[in-house]
Amino acid sequence: MTTSVSPAPEGRETWTSNRGFILAAIGSAVGLGNIWRFPGVAYEGGGGAFLVPYLIALVTAGIPILFLDYAVGHRFRAAAPLAFRRMWRKAEALGWFQTAILFVISTYYAVIIAWSLSYFYFSFGTKWGDDAKTFFLSDYLKVGDPGVSTELVGGVAWPLIAVWGLIIVILALGVTKGVEKLNVIGLPLLVLGFAALVIKALTLPGASDGLNALFTPDWGALTDLNVWIAAYSQIFFSMSIAFGIMISYASFQRRKANMTSSGLVVGFANSSFEILAGIGVFSTLGFLAHQQGVGVGDLEGITGPTLSFITFPAVISQMPGATLFGALFFGSLAIAGFTSLISLVLGVSVAFQEKFGLSKTTAAVTVGVVSAIVSFALFATTTGLIALDTVDQFANNIGIVVSAIAMCVIAVWLGRTIETLRGHLNAVSTFKVGKWWIPVIGLYAPIFLGIMLIQKVYDLVQNGYEGYPTWYVGVFGWGTVAFLVAFAVVFTAIRWGGRDDSTFAPWPPLDSSATTAAAAGKEAVR
Ligand code: PFF
Repeated sequence: MTTSVSPAPEGRETWTSNRGFILAAIGSAVGLGNIWRFPGVAYEGGGGAFLVPYLIALVTAGIPILFLDYAVGHRFRAAAPLAFRRMWRKAEALGWFQTAILFVISTYYAVIIAWSLSYFYFSFGTKWGDDAKTFFLSDYLKVGDPGVSTELVGGVAWPLIAVWGLIIVILALGVTKGVEKLNVIGLPLLVLGFAALVIKALTLPGASDGLNALFTPDWGALTDLNVWIAAYSQIFFSMSIAFGIMISYASFQRRKANMTSSGLVVGFANSSFEILAGIGVFSTLGFLAHQQGVGVGDLEGITGPTLSFITFPAVISQMPGATLFGALFFGSLAIAGFTSLISLVLGVSVAFQEKFGLSKTTAAVTVGVVSAIVSFALFATTTGLIALDTVDQFANNIGIVVSAIAMCVIAVWLGRTIETLRGHLNAVSTFKVGKWWIPVIGLYAPIFLGIMLIQKVYDLVQNGYEGYPTWYVGVFGWGTVAFLVAFAVVFTAIRWGGRDDSTFAPWPPLDSSATTAAAAGKEAVR
């Protein structure tokens, strides 16, 4: 009974249960994107009618690409660079490209969590006062013109130290004792806190106007290509797919793990939280419109940092029970953000651990410290907000779409592993992936995403971004894209110093017959 099909790679952890994996995956998916991005994007994309492109994006790209991430991670059992290398040797660069995106996003995502922590504290006594906009931009962030400043903002730097410190400790504790525990504690806390906030928001005067504004369909929006693009972008960022994250998370699953059913649970949970956030945010905006005697449609600043750190504080000041509402809102943002940030940094850390044969702790500390330094230098300064906005736009809209297209094309056309991956998923899962998956991944997704990419690049080249100076968009926007490519080239070129395929084996190929009692018996000893 002690024989095993492949040498169990020493030191590789697994989630303690499928539940642990699902919680961690939901923790990664549910983040700032759900709370501050979805409600405004849905509203601007036709309200109730937005649910049509959103659900189509979920079914035609979200779930299929989530399955692809899971299949690659579980079958090849490594973070993105090594998993892709095992899938098709030349695909390692894609893994490093994804790792670069994770690295870049983590450096600014951490800063937003630091703001949320500050605002959690400011909620006690609504310290932002009567003019939330001036408070956020001038008093708190000390924002200057677009440029490069080295002046650190103390109010951001202190909580940022706490964020990175905690991230490093949790990563060093590892997948089971660190990441899984964090999510097992954090996720229920988030759901309870956020549900309380939504209930409170629904009782505010004007809440129903907000909900009407959000859900009343504007069918005309569906003829606008940009609305469809917004729906697909939202799905990618929100579900954390094509970033390599879900590859790493799936790589820590046990051999017999019900991957596709878990994926459906994660996707459903993420979208449900998104709708819940829409209800909470728009009830609150309805209250604001009611207070100001204007229509919800006349309000400004309903997405992103402006929504969370200017509009919301302003509304909260006018509410009965302001402190509680503020603490619930900013506490939720911080927790939702933190469980996503840990996944971003884990993806980077495991990639380096594998390539250079580092220990878990060395990789966690090195990656954590380097990311923290970049995070401070670029985003905790007086020019941090503008840098963050620009880098986010390019890393997400260009980087991630390129990554998704490359992943689909490699899986189906270049590496030709899609059938193996489908067989693998079906051998371990109860929800079987039909043949429909292959044309969706091989044709529909890359074609649609290709159109989306061309449109976005054209728009950015023609119109620049947010009226920022051209040199600035060149350095921080296109510079980000150049950085992603350079990172991929450099780390692919470096020789593997880590465990190679023989000492750190992927799971042996599974096909449907492997689900027999004999295979199950072997699994049990692992
Ligand atoms: N899904 C997260 C959100 O909605 O905020 C953001 C995110 C986390 C994106 C992890 C990508 C990722 F790998």
